Formats: sequence, C-alpha cells, structure tokens
Amino acid sequence: MYVCICNQVSDKDIKASVQDGATTMRALYQEHKIGNQCGKCCQCAKKVLNNELIKIAATQVQVA
Ligand code: FES
Repeated sequence: MYVCICNQVSDKDIKASVQDGATTMRALYQEHKIGNQCGKCCQCAKKVLNNELIKIAATQVQVA
C-alpha cells in the first residue's frame, strides 16, 4: 500500500530501506523525501518504520 501518496512511497519501499539500514524518519526522508509535501504520511511512515525495527530486533534476539 502507498504510505506517501505525494512521493509514491509504499510500505514495501520503507521496509526495504529499513532492511538496508535506515533507522530514523530522517533517513527515510533523505532516501524517499517522505513528508516533504503535505506531511500527512509521517505518522503512518513512522509506524511502518517502528514495526520493521521491532521485527529486526526480535529476530536478532532469537539468533543471539
Ligand atoms: S503523503 Fe507524504 S508528503 Fe504528502
């Protein structure tokens, strides 16, 4: 699904960025320009970002 309609950024794009090392909204902004127009996507983008970071953290705990 599209998270940022203004910049055509999907949740898959955000998840891929997190897998590539993005950990902050600033990193997503730098890569996708999320939130640079209307800003309505910021809360949803942050939710997707946080959920993906939690998934990664949970995976790392299981490995360790
Ligand atoms: S929906 Fe992301 S800036 Fe408008």
